[in-house]
Amino acid sequence: MSYEFATEDISYEDYASGRVLYNQKGTTSFPARLISEIFQRCVAYLEKQGKSAPYTIYDPLCGGAYSLTILGFLHPDLINKIIASDAMEDVVIFAKKNLSLLTEAGMQDRINQIKQYLADYGKESHAEALESAYKFESIIKNMPHSININCYQADALTDSIKLDKLKPDALKTDALEPDALMPDALKPDTLKLNTLKPDALNLVTLKQDQSEMNDKIDIVITDIPYGKLVEWITEDGKDAVSVMLQNLLPKLSKQSIVAVSSRKRTAIYNDNYTRVSKFQIGKRQIVLLRPNS
Ligand SMILES: C[S@@+](CC[C@H](N)C(=O)[O-])C[C@H]1O[C@@H](n2cnc3c(N)ncnc32)[C@H](O)[C@@H]1O
Repeated sequence: MSYEFATEDISYEDYASGRVLYNQKGTTSFPARLISEIFQRCVAYLEKQGKSAPYTIYDPLCGGAYSLTILGFLHPDLINKIIASDAMEDVVIFAKKNLSLLTEAGMQDRINQIKQYLADYGKESHAEALESAYKFESIIKNMPHSININCYQADALTDSIKLDKLKPDALKTDALEPDALMPDALKPDTLKLNTLKPDALNLVTLKQDQSEMNDKIDIVITDIPYGKLVEWITEDGKDAVSVMLQNLLPKLSKQSIVAVSSRKRTAIYNDNYTRVSKFQIGKRQIVLLRPNS
């Protein structure tokens, strides 16, 4: 497949996880150029439908929200609201940290932090991170409008989930690591989720934020768990994609578009959607779907 929109093979090193964007062990990151390509294909589709920017975008499997944060920096003019959710509480906390970088206050905090690292340890990686952070700061200052951000914990497969029923493997996102820029010797011990007492895992029913239910989403852009680092959080992984698509329907309008990235040959299908297009790059396939009604 060739890129139709992100045609320039520029360096995306500013977006590297752990540089300015926070990094956490056990979470995945998505190639910046590819996420930009997928997003722009969705935008092209919406424009053809007569729906113009700015758009509300949503990732129901947001992980550390790398993709959404990157999109905020790459396409601030096209996005006015970012919604992010994930089933894992610690992952959501981390996603919030990354998304905060799209705000002046969040970016200022990060700049101050990196400056402190630079003053204390003077590493080249800190100087490079600071340079990237200043570029992001300038993007934020020049944004045509601020981006409204909403990030919460929710199960994409049901509107409630009992964490005590999770498969042990689902807890692979198990280490909270504050900052990849921090020298190893100074990093606090990582916190293993599976060493937490059961009540710390909060065996409660997690409810989706009701205020979000009425929010119509223009673009859903997501990559499903591939099994290597993160897995579907479900008792039975069968048809997870179809169930997720079904659950998304109330949040979509007829004009919405859903882009799902997965391993090749994964069935991305639900009776209530029609496939708009499909392309492959490397090990990934990306399927764009529109709701039937
Ligand atoms: C491949 S990662 C997504 C990475 C993300 N797009 C990013 O840019 O960082 C898949 C995520 O799906 C989450 N997940 C798995 N099962 C879920 C479920 N049933 N509901 C919501 N999130 C789930 C995992 O916790 C993981 O963070």
